[in-house]
Amino acid sequence: MAEPFLSIQHVRKSFGPTTVVQDFNLDVEPGEFVSFLGPSGCGKTTVLRMVAGFEEPSAGKIVVAGKDITRLKPNQRNVGMVFQAYALFPNLTVAQNIGFGLKVAGMPKPDADRRVAEMLDLIKLPQMGDRYPYQLSGGQQQRIALARAIAPKPKLLLLDEPLSALD
Ligand SMILES: Nc1ncnc2c1ncn2[C@@H]1O[C@H](COP(=O)(O)OP(=O)(O)O)[C@@H](O)[C@H]1O
Ligand SMILES: [Mg+2]
Repeated sequence: MAEPFLSIQHVRKSFGPTTVVQDFNLDVEPGEFVSFLGPSGCGKTTVLRMVAGFEEPSAGKIVVAGKDITRLKPNQRNVGMVFQAYALFPNLTVAQNIGFGLKVAGMPKPDADRRVAEMLDLIKLPQMGDRYPYQLSGGQQQRIALARAIAPKPKLLLLDEPLSALD
């Protein structure tokens, strides 16, 4: 069997005295598409946030491509995430939102601008780069969040109920 691309090993997450994820284990092969199903509050979002680096596991290990990433910052992981509630930056334009990860990664501005334009075309909002998130519908905001996550070409893409607002 091939080496797993993502390996979540004995991960636990507690908030104070409450354990919300217990001994979670999952191996994902390269190219594999995996869905989590479970009732509201069972810990799906918490697992995704730990893989992306927005929560630190209380125990256990997360390995991507053979490298232990458990304690790395989100921007050091090459992981893209679309959040359940989009989490667009309200003070940034659509184009700045989509280009955020490219800027953080230090991509030269002309290249970043080109990539942002490509993404705006892909999500069929080519004229909307200068708008702000509040000027968009829920479905449009969700497409911006998706574009922001995939603009840096992450090796791993995490989608937290990403299609709930799309028509
Ligand atoms: N920052 C937090 N502090 C305390 N409890 C939290 C926090 N984040 C999530 N929880 C709790 O962890 C549990 C799992 O939440 P979550 O991962 O969002 O579930 P799901 O995405 O499966 O609906 C819930 O009971 C939630 O209330
Ligand atoms: Mg959730």
